[in-house]
Amino acid sequence: MTTPPVLLNSDDYEDEARARLSPGAYGYFAGGSEDEITLRENRAAWERMALLPRVLVDVSRRNLTTTVMGSPVAMPVLLAPCAMNALAHPDGELAVARAASATGVLQVLSTGSSRSIEEVAAVSTGPRWFQLYCIRDPEVSLSLVRRAEASGYSAIVLTVDMAVLGTRERDLRTGFELPDGITWKNLEAADAQALAPRVHGSPASADETWYQALDWNFLEELCRFTALPVLVKGVLSPLDARLAVEHGARGIVVSNHGGRQLDGAISTARALPAVAEAVAGRAEVYVDGGIRRGSHVLKALALGARAALVGRPYLWALAAGGESGVGDWLERIRGEFDAAMALSGLTDTSQISASLLAPESRPST
Ligand SMILES: Cc1cc2nc3c(=O)[nH]c(=O)nc-3n(C[C@H](O)[C@H](O)[C@H](O)COP(=O)(O)O)c2cc1C
Repeated sequence: MTTPPVLLNSDDYEDEARARLSPGAYGYFAGGSEDEITLRENRAAWERMALLPRVLVDVSRRNLTTTVMGSPVAMPVLLAPCAMNALAHPDGELAVARAASATGVLQVLSTGSSRSIEEVAAVSTGPRWFQLYCIRDPEVSLSLVRRAEASGYSAIVLTVDMAVLGTRERDLRTGFELPDGITWKNLEAADAQALAPRVHGSPASADETWYQALDWNFLEELCRFTALPVLVKGVLSPLDARLAVEHGARGIVVSNHGGRQLDGAISTARALPAVAEAVAGRAEVYVDGGIRRGSHVLKALALGARAALVGRPYLWALAAGGESGVGDWLERIRGEFDAAMALSGLTDTSQISASLLAPESRPST
């Protein structure tokens, strides 16, 4: 009898997932665009930053909880919207929703989910947001917002870094296509399956899906259309952060789509401080990209984020063990975050500030 591997951290889950997934599915999840410079830099930037912990603080009682757009969560870690979770495990987004609810963290459901808005709502008992892609038919996009409202999602996350698809060379090399039976389920119900991307990796094929005319007017229209708070995901420039707030956004997600879109774009750890400064408390600021350890979450909060979103690691955990895999990984990262707090002399997430960073890692502004 072989002993199952001990999966201690996000990288262990990735190793396990790589052994279980087809090369095409693994490459689709793991890959970035072109030379994958931004993909690598995302993680490297968190790793390079140094913490400056305090000692001799009574840390025997610690509170990791916070609120995100008013919803209480168990820790400042959110599950980033990732399309087609069924490629990792047949239960897909349902398994993720159950694990997130049991742990008290928030799942952001993708427009491109392999289970529908309603199916996920039916198994989720925790707070959930819906990520909106403005696809080529904006009316279809707005119909998804109505469905999310009706199913108890409490915010809309508009992704704005998808005018065209980044060139994912791993997908082109493996010839990755969606296996039969895995679809963008939400568009099926909206009778718009023809708009769903079929082949990944090629910008030309995706032109049929994405709405390239997306602009600030659409954001304003969306904010008028829904009473739910709207967050804008995919902001890197402080100028855009300011504009997003002026056009009605209540939250900003500093993101480069996990290095899958514009290769060479700035890492999110480097972009975050200037965005936080530009927003100046008028909206909540979030960040994703390369967050792999609880200490990275701590660094993200020290740079001004309210919480960090994590993408690939929960997909690895889903592939490794379905719902219990995601639940176990969430416990691992919670443990890491908890230990990083204690070892930094912190007892509450509200105490995290830039003073936790070594001088060379602090924002220069
Ligand atoms: C396989 C995969 C699918 C993704 N699908 C979406 C999506 O449908 N919508 C979206 O806004 N972002 C999507 N993203 C980007 C994530 O939301 C997030 O920005 C990114 O994964 C964070 O980086 P990390 O994976 O390094 O944590 C996807 C990312 C991956 C890896």
